[in-house]
Amino acid sequence: MTSNEIKAGLNTKILGREVAFYTETTSTNDIALELAGKGADEGTLVVADSQTMGRGRGDRKWFAPAGTSILASLILRPLIELSQINKIVLITAISIVYAIRNITHLPALVKWPNDVVINNKKTAGILAEAKTEKNSVSFVVVGFGINVNVPKISFPEEIADIATSLSIESGCEISRIHLLQEILRQIESRYLKLDNDSFLDEWKNLSATIGRQVQIEYPDSIKTGLALNIDENGALTIKLNTGEIQRIINDDIVRVKTK
Ligand code: BTN
Repeated sequence: MTSNEIKAGLNTKILGREVAFYTETTSTNDIALELAGKGADEGTLVVADSQTMGRGRGDRKWFAPAGTSILASLILRPLIELSQINKIVLITAISIVYAIRNITHLPALVKWPNDVVINNKKTAGILAEAKTEKNSVSFVVVGFGINVNVPKISFPEEIADIATSLSIESGCEISRIHLLQEILRQIESRYLKLDNDSFLDEWKNLSATIGRQVQIEYPDSIKTGLALNIDENGALTIKLNTGEIQRIINDDIVRVKTK
């Protein structure tokens, strides 16, 4: 994969006009945060074949053998308030799902708060990080890791039962470049109409969470109930088994299981 291959035939207006590609780096999110702080253009994409310090949510490591995955971070400068930052995660998740469906025809779904699953196994994760000033957002780095051609045997034991890749699910190798290009087109079309909340219906239609029993694990407690809805700020409404309706935000959630 090279920057030129990613840009060739991409046909976007903003996203991926600038691409910084690394064979190996620390974390594409860290590089993108640094570039954004130095004034990099909106839409700049940082991509790597491997990361030495790939990060997931909650300070977990992001596993990805070299050359098997999409490891990418986009710099965005949306005119939104801090409370709306989850919109970026939601449109990214929907866009990854559509891109996977278009390229592989696999039944990808979004899983709250920020995963993409196939047959209930995690295929992609999103990590958005923002620099804020007072209540406004200076920039957002939205990083996504997608298990594209990761062989089954290489997943570490602790995630072997809960993770999968596109090649495992489809039985064939998938072009990382074509998939990445399609993701950029999908994100751009939604990003350019971020004011329009139609992405919420898309999210609900593609959801592996709404209408299901969920178990939400916090560092020292667990909530279980029926997932009812999601709002424009990415909060999930659940009906607890006690009958009480609660609005859940994704901060400090360790894990979400669906039954
Ligand atoms: C999660 O599911 O916990 C989020 C995972 C996000 C991983 C991606 S890989 C590219 C980018 N760089 C990072 O260090 N993390 C994100």
